[in-house]
Amino acid sequence: MDLNKKVAVVTGGASGLGRAATQELVNRGANVVIVDMNAEAGAAAVDELGAANARFIALDVSSGPDVEAAFEKILADLGRVDICVNCAGIGIAAKTIDREGNPHSLDLYRKVIEVNLIGTFNISRCAAAAMARNEPDEKTERGVIINTASIAAFDGQMGQVAYSATKGGIVGMTLPMARDLAGSGIRVNTIAPGVMATPLLLSAPQQVQDGIVSGIPFPKRLGEPSEFGQLVVHMVENSYLNGETVRLDGAVRMQPR
Ligand SMILES: NC(=O)c1ccc[n+]([C@@H]2O[C@H](COP(=O)([O-])OP(=O)(O)OC[C@H]3O[C@@H](n4cnc5c(N)ncnc54)[C@H](O)[C@@H]3O)[C@@H](O)[C@H]2O)c1
Repeated sequence: MDLNKKVAVVTGGASGLGRAATQELVNRGANVVIVDMNAEAGAAAVDELGAANARFIALDVSSGPDVEAAFEKILADLGRVDICVNCAGIGIAAKTIDREGNPHSLDLYRKVIEVNLIGTFNISRCAAAAMARNEPDEKTERGVIINTASIAAFDGQMGQVAYSATKGGIVGMTLPMARDLAGSGIRVNTIAPGVMATPLLLSAPQQVQDGIVSGIPFPKRLGEPSEFGQLVVHMVENSYLNGETVRLDGAVRMQPR
């Protein structure tokens, strides 16, 4: 799918990987709607990108009614949705039982599932319904959905039991969603990033960063958010890529801790 003048919805687009994806999409002529809980960062992103290229909607991706209302507004304002990039997510660190032998908080587990897994599905179902209304393009496509998992879906470390479950769920729904939406001309792919140079990681002590980098075979550095954005663009543009999860990780395989 050609990106020029297309409407893209990017969740988590106010920060990190979502912000980088937004930049790459705008660079190629797409009109982006940033959907994020952080109103201040969302407004700042629109200022940087320019109001002609981007707008912002503040919401929690796990709220069914809020997401439905947001897509109605996008359709009313912009007439269509062609691309959806799910980047909103949270991480927690807690083991199945803690040092004192207490069980993992169930509320915390539910919260991560709500935001990462249910939030991704919630946005995708509404995006798909909007895309299905599009006239097919010259390649018979109506839309593209891109999810963000993590290498923790495959090599989750100690303390990642909840986070890995959400990301494994995203990987697991990629193929069946692509199959569900095949008849509508909508593709679904997932990116599983390794360790990327987002603000959170860059704020970690240098020693911690060096330790992480030493385990990455090649290139021996953190991934750049712009490299995530480039893969988003490729997944939109390459019409034969469908139902797939792609690791973006410098060949790293995480150890148990
Ligand atoms: N940074 C990495 O190294 C890395 C590696 C693997 C996977 N990921 C995944 O990539 C995605 C983006 O990560 P990031 O590092 O850019 O994080 P980030 O914290 O910089 O950005 C996440 C954005 O999501 C928003 N958000 C969080 N919960 C939300 C909710 N309920 N509703 C709406 N918006 C919400 C936040 O406000 C924030 O702007 C996450 O899903 C994360 O799990 C990141």
